[in-house]
Amino acid sequence: MRFGVYTSGGDAPGMNAAIRAVVRSAISQKHSVIGIYNGYEGMLAKEFQELKLRSVANIIQRGGTVLKTARCASFHHAETREQAFLNLKEKEIDALICIGGDGSFRGAMALHAEHKIPVIGIPGTIDNDIYGTDYTIGFDTATNTALEAIDRIRDTAYSHNRIFIVEVMGRDTGFLALDVGIAGGAQDIFVPERTLAVDKVVSRIEDSVKRGKLSSIIVAAEGQKPGRAYDLAEAIRKKSGQEAKVCILGHIQRGGTPTARDRMLASALGAAAVNALASGFNCHAVGIVRNEVALTPLQEVTSNKKSIREDLLNLSQILAT
Ligand code: F6P
Repeated sequence: MRFGVYTSGGDAPGMNAAIRAVVRSAISQKHSVIGIYNGYEGMLAKEFQELKLRSVANIIQRGGTVLKTARCASFHHAETREQAFLNLKEKEIDALICIGGDGSFRGAMALHAEHKIPVIGIPGTIDNDIYGTDYTIGFDTATNTALEAIDRIRDTAYSHNRIFIVEVMGRDTGFLALDVGIAGGAQDIFVPERTLAVDKVVSRIEDSVKRGKLSSIIVAAEGQKPGRAYDLAEAIRKKSGQEAKVCILGHIQRGGTPTARDRMLASALGAAAVNALASGFNCHAVGIVRNEVALTPLQEVTSNKKSIREDLLNLSQILAT
């Protein structure tokens, strides 16, 4: 078979390790691989290039994606997808491997539904918000990047007896905020899935000051409004008169060398995607569930929302006393 592989949506550290695993696993089984550059945009612009064993040398340690990536709004239209399919057919691509998040999987699913091309998704996003896998590629690296920043902020927060609000990524989900918050010893964690009243945060800060805790770290997912940490700081100032410093980590969390865990995950999932296509699976996503490779229909993956763990949110409150 001739597979087309592409990365799409927000980049995530470990995507290169996944591309490498796809290429090398496929070639070891006598398939060939075409790299599609710039996601769906490149599918439309015929940005195709064959990837050989050496094309993916020396990329396992690199963040970002050597195939580049894009968010392609026009792919929501059936006529655009038809053009993409014609381009794939012209290049004699038999099946697709899509490395990306939920939106990218929806594009792959639509291509499959309309043109019957087999597709397999590999979950790659720092948000970890993909149903059908315990972890997505990039989440571990982003968590550790944010954590390193928090550890540094903690030094200065402690020295000045200050409150800091650290804003992490996560538009719709708070997986990153939750893990970073617990591992970073945050006083409170704001996640998009749950409303947390500023009054409550202020009274917890006041209680901890009474107990002798003079500095605090609050972790907030950006939610629908990157920069919301400034609004929170202002709300805290209005309620308590206390100044809260703000640090927005932003795209720093998307870059950098992938952790060993992300490289392992990406290597396993890249190989699993090739095996899945070679054994006739199609329109599924590969994932890791309780340490085993799992295949879940893309329909199920895109119609279910992975839930944030309430028990961990509660634990964060218990531990931050
Ligand atoms: O989906 C990954 C993600 O990093 C989200 O956490 C964030 O909200 C979004 O992408 C930012 O997207 P962009 O880089 O396109 O601004």
